[in-house]
Amino acid sequence: MAIILSGKELSDRLTAEQTERVKELKAQGIHPGLAVVLVGEDPASQIYVRNKGIACETIGIHSETIRLPGDIGQEKLEETIQKLNEDRKISGILVQLPLPRNLDEDAALATVLPEKDVDGFHLTNAGKLFSGRETVIPCTPKGILYMLKEAGIPLVGKEAVVVGRSNIVGKPAAMLLLKEHCTVTICHSRTKNLAEHTRRADILVAAIGKPRFITADMVKPGAAVMDVGINRVDGKVVGDVDYEPVAQVAGYITPVPGGIGKMTISMLMENTLEAACRQGR
Ligand code: GUN
Repeated sequence: MAIILSGKELSDRLTAEQTERVKELKAQGIHPGLAVVLVGEDPASQIYVRNKGIACETIGIHSETIRLPGDIGQEKLEETIQKLNEDRKISGILVQLPLPRNLDEDAALATVLPEKDVDGFHLTNAGKLFSGRETVIPCTPKGILYMLKEAGIPLVGKEAVVVGRSNIVGKPAAMLLLKEHCTVTICHSRTKNLAEHTRRADILVAAIGKPRFITADMVKPGAAVMDVGINRVDGKVVGDVDYEPVAQVAGYITPVPGGIGKMTISMLMENTLEAACRQGR
C-alpha cells in the first residue's frame, strides 16, 4: 500500500511559515500583493481564482481579482495588464488560463512584466528554466518537486515519466526533473504504447486531464505517482489516476483532492513573496 503524500498537510505547514514571513517582510517595508486577472465565466477558473484570493487573505497579503467580460478585446486586456505592471501595490500578476478563444494567450502573457510573472509563463522566464538558469518556477511543477523532496524520494538517475506536454505543467515539470538529474520521458496523446513508458517510471507525473486515466497495470511497483488531474465526474472531483487500485501498486501517491492542487496555491504564494522581495517593496 502506497504512502500518501498529503498536499494538505504540507501546504498547511507552508501557510503557517508564510504568514510569519509576511509579518517580517511588512516590518521591513515590503508589502506583497497579487493581482489575478480572470476573463470570462469558466466555472473551474472561477473556483481556482477564488481559492487564490483566500490564500492571499490567509497569509496576510494584498490581493486583487480583476474580472473581465469574456468578450473583452485583446487591447483592453493588455491595457489592464499594463496598469498592473505599473501598480506599486502589485508584486505579482497572474492571468488565469485558459483565456476565451477570441484572445491571444501568448500576447497576453508577454505583456506581464517578467519581474511580476508569478506563473513563470513569460517567455523570458520559461527560457531561463529551459536553460537551467535560476528563475521563477511554474507553481504546479514547483509543488510536485517540493513534495518529492519533502518525502525524501531519490531523484538522481531515476526514470521520470511525465504524461502531458502543456506549457503549464508537463514541459516545465520535465525541465525541473531533468535539472534534478532524472532521466526524463515526456509522453502525450500521440504516444504509442504509453503503458510501456509509464511502467518504467520511478516517478510518474500524470497531467493528462482525463479522469482515472492511469490504471494500476501502467504503474511500476514502488513508483511515486504524482496526480495533477482535477476532473469532475458525477459531482465528484477525481484525478488523472485510478486512485485505489494504483495505491495498491505504487510506493507513494498524491490524493485528489488534497494533493498537488493544494501545493500549487502554496507555491503561488511563495512566488509572490519572492517577487515582492526582488522588487524590494
Ligand atoms: N490554469 C490552470 N492552472 C493554471 C496556473 O497554474 N496558472 C494560470 N495562470 N492559469 C492556470
